[in-house]
Amino acid sequence: MIAVFNGVNLNMLGQRDPAQYGTLTLSELESRVYAWAGERSMTARCFQTNHEGVLIDHIHESRGWANGLIINPGAWTHYSYAIRDALEIFTAPIVEVHLSDITQREEWRRHSVIGDVVDHTISGQGPDGYRAALDWLQEALAHA
Ligand code: DQA
Repeated sequence: MIAVFNGVNLNMLGQRDPAQYGTLTLSELESRVYAWAGERSMTARCFQTNHEGVLIDHIHESRGWANGLIINPGAWTHYSYAIRDALEIFTAPIVEVHLSDITQREEWRRHSVIGDVVDHTISGQGPDGYRAALDWLQEALAHA
């Protein structure tokens, strides 16, 4: 089971800047994730929250059932040491995903405080980044 966690403001996809985030809504994105997972004989469980502590609770709890994690923390990426520390104790492989290319945007977005505790990062591929993350996890789990 793959946990797919989206953080703050990602529930507003479809209403955010389409040049950065595209036009899909979160539920359309999650539908694609479920379909892509199914095509790979994987099972995904998607969750989004705007509350940092709730995301941390979900990261802790998912240690009991997830054998991989795909996470887009939204703006928390850039400053939440609390999410970073929760990810540090997650033992299964973690892929950090960003719809936009955070390396090419404002200075404050270029640094990810979770970057050193994830196993792989995909940035700037839009929704397809989540598919690439599933592919990466499938490969990683096959060799685990
Ligand atoms: C984001 C990039 C972040 O800088 C931003 O705050 C988001 C979304 C992305 O998916 O491109 O909310 O994580």
